[in-house]
Amino acid sequence: MGYDRGMRAITIPEPGGPDALVWSEVPDPQPAPGEVVVAVRASAVNRADLLQRQGHYPPPAGASAYPGLECSGVVAALGPEVTGWTVGQEVCALLAGGGYAERVAVPAGQLLPVPAGVDLVDAAALPEVACTVWSNVVQLAGLTRGETLLVHGGGSGIGTFAIQLGTALGATVLATARSAKQDRLRALGAAHLIDYREQDFVEEVRRITDGRGADVILDIMGASYLGRNVSALATGGRLVVIGMQGGRKGELDLGALLAKRASVSATALRSRPVAEKATIVTGVREQVWPLVEAGAVRPVVDRRLPLADAAQAHRLIESSDHLGKVLLTLP
Ligand SMILES: NC(=O)c1ccc[n+]([C@@H]2O[C@H](COP(=O)([O-])OP(=O)(O)OC[C@H]3O[C@@H](n4cnc5c(N)ncnc54)[C@H](OP(=O)(O)O)[C@@H]3O)[C@@H](O)[C@H]2O)c1
Repeated sequence: MGYDRGMRAITIPEPGGPDALVWSEVPDPQPAPGEVVVAVRASAVNRADLLQRQGHYPPPAGASAYPGLECSGVVAALGPEVTGWTVGQEVCALLAGGGYAERVAVPAGQLLPVPAGVDLVDAAALPEVACTVWSNVVQLAGLTRGETLLVHGGGSGIGTFAIQLGTALGATVLATARSAKQDRLRALGAAHLIDYREQDFVEEVRRITDGRGADVILDIMGASYLGRNVSALATGGRLVVIGMQGGRKGELDLGALLAKRASVSATALRSRPVAEKATIVTGVREQVWPLVEAGAVRPVVDRRLPLADAAQAHRLIESSDHLGKVLLTLP
């Protein structure tokens, strides 16, 4: 990526708390071959952005140094060898970084059209959760109609999308969430809510499924839930770990896993090669966008804040008082 002129972006001169996010003048991105520059209308906060701000999650090689894993906006320039997109087109995009900025360069394979019926700003709430949930729950774990999906952190950006997608695909969705969020998650399609602070989720999953367990578990806790997740799996169950909020090293009971003929996988989206991301984006466009356009899956937006106030948005996510996505907007 080369640069000229200038724009404003949220930078992180020194890692730290929310005030480490600084609204700064930076060089303008230029599209490399195969890339498109998007004039950003909105970005969204992901939990990974908090880790990046604290210095624990550096951007992958070649990615923008600024935070922001997704955006919506308008195509502002096309790099060499880009076909299928036009300047002025409204899009949203999966990014490896750089969404907290007025403009960002992105591989063309990571662009998506704004789904019909979705506002341009709200479209920024979709790429990261749609690509993460679809690639893990459908592509990897192979969730099918009639199965039971357990979503941990149902009130998160990821969770609110997973509840809707699982329900739209004909699964019975169970979710863990604090009680204050449960009514809104029921309205999104969750059949049963488990307050992880008050209830034992393994017991609850067994009770709700008449002892069978969950066919697929989408987990964001990692080590602290590993043993209990394996206990909560059905025979032939698939546990997919996408977050390590409860630590990275846990003990895995292989005996329990093989008795159930179950599997455990873990994936990260951000560091995947551009070609793999493009494949995921194509799958999302073909299989998830029609559900969004039909109204079965919608962006769940807690609130919109100006991008320059990104520190306030990070404080909100840290408090976990939000439900769904917090958007960062530009005029
Ligand atoms: N691997 C990947 O490719 C990938 C991509 C995107 C996101 N992620 C991961 O997915 C997770 C969600 O991301 P996000 O940006 O959507 O997060 P978020 O909106 O900040 O939500 C975090 C959630 O964690 C929940 N939580 C905290 N402690 C819990 C516990 N003990 N049991 C169950 N839930 C608990 C909170 O629930 P309450 O508010 O109900 O307490 C909250 O809903 C993060 O861990 C993130 O790193 C991974």
